[in-house]
Amino acid sequence: MDKIVIKGGQPLHGEVQASGAKNAALPILASALLADGTSTYRNVPDLADVATMLKVLRTMGCDAERHAEKPDVCHVGVNGHITPEAPYDLVKTMRASVLVLGPLVARFGRARVSMPGGCAIGARPIDQHLKGLKALGADIHLTEGYVEATAKQLKGGTVNFDVITVTGTENVMMAAVLAKGRTVMENCAREPEVEELAKVLNKMGARIEGAGTSIITIEGVDRLMPVEHAILPDRIEAGTLLVAAAISGGNVLVKHVVPEHLDAVVEKLREAGCTISAEGGGLRCKAPDRLNAVNITTTEHPGFPTDMQAQLMALMSVSQGTSVISENIFENRFMHVPELHRLGADITIQGHTAVVKGVKSLSGAPVMATDLRASASLILAGLRAEGRTDVSRVYHLDRGYERLERKLRGLGADIRREKA
Ligand code: EPZ
Repeated sequence: MDKIVIKGGQPLHGEVQASGAKNAALPILASALLADGTSTYRNVPDLADVATMLKVLRTMGCDAERHAEKPDVCHVGVNGHITPEAPYDLVKTMRASVLVLGPLVARFGRARVSMPGGCAIGARPIDQHLKGLKALGADIHLTEGYVEATAKQLKGGTVNFDVITVTGTENVMMAAVLAKGRTVMENCAREPEVEELAKVLNKMGARIEGAGTSIITIEGVDRLMPVEHAILPDRIEAGTLLVAAAISGGNVLVKHVVPEHLDAVVEKLREAGCTISAEGGGLRCKAPDRLNAVNITTTEHPGFPTDMQAQLMALMSVSQGTSVISENIFENRFMHVPELHRLGADITIQGHTAVVKGVKSLSGAPVMATDLRASASLILAGLRAEGRTDVSRVYHLDRGYERLERKLRGLGADIRREKA
């Protein structure tokens, strides 16, 4: 297992580009199943999770590959015989594989997808996904750890989510586009990635209104056509890069960003004392050497994103004052705390709240990544810590960040990847 080695203390300067959004690419790749023919996607980030989704699609019989010469382009060909199944060994490595469920039932009338099981940050059930598919007329059975869903023809219906769920909204939306009649989905997730998926589906011939709001209305159509689409920029990677500038007291332009997708994060960075300005199709973050503590409460979009909580906690660990961070989306998303303690951070967990007392400095040490955003948090802390920080188990990082250490090195960080 590789590790990332950082020598802290270098303020970051220069320009860096955010890659395509992981959490948009995953549902969009799955949506290719809804059309006969080959769909082509550009600006697809080169991530382990994307490779897993392509593998899931190939396992079913799709021709799903990254372009040989153009590294950001992927195509998914859905032509011949498709086996509508997603096996446990793939789904357990990436729970977002469950996003094939809706398209398979809608297009092929049946699906056999492994239950994803929990993950490091929480139980992450899919009951709302199944509730939505049932509302559209699917028969759902759970056998041997698999969801077996069948429906001769899905019918439009009303789906009211008990819990706001991003992939739940996406799964049901992808099922409803080929259902007979109208579907009204209420209490939907409003993330930009949900809106982006709806945009792609409408380009394929779907009739979706209201994506990005909590009520989505869909008029079912008989068939969808393959599509060409460029994936929108990754707001969480962009936010992580802005925090890298902030924690190092640097001045960095993060390009290829949709500023309004980062409003909640930018507002907190400004409140902490950063100067953030729109420039050249991106956002520039200029930070003083030490920031002020701010409180963070994660909520569904457009609130502060849970995927940025660990990164802000690293920043707050060296800010002036005390920050109260409440994690309201996942029940176990503080696993970066014991590792930040090893670097000298002063953090106390009380239930789903962490109280972070800013310290003057952190000191480098070997630490272990436990999940995707925790690994980013530890790298950010390492940029600030005095001395050397070794972050192990960076396979977690590679799931959701495209060569982050190379991007940070390009900004002046003393950081390298060491093959284990
Ligand atoms: C998506 O996960 C993202 N992943 C996550 O990003 C992100 O943290 C999360 O949304 C919240 O924004 C992708 O888009 C691929 P949820 P998802 O369903 O859809 C509960 C990252 O770091 N829930 O919105 O799985 C659930 O337990 C990853 O990039 C149910 O109870 O999250 C959680 O507490 C991590 N029943 C809450 O809802 C359900 O059927 C929100 O989960 C579904 C969810």
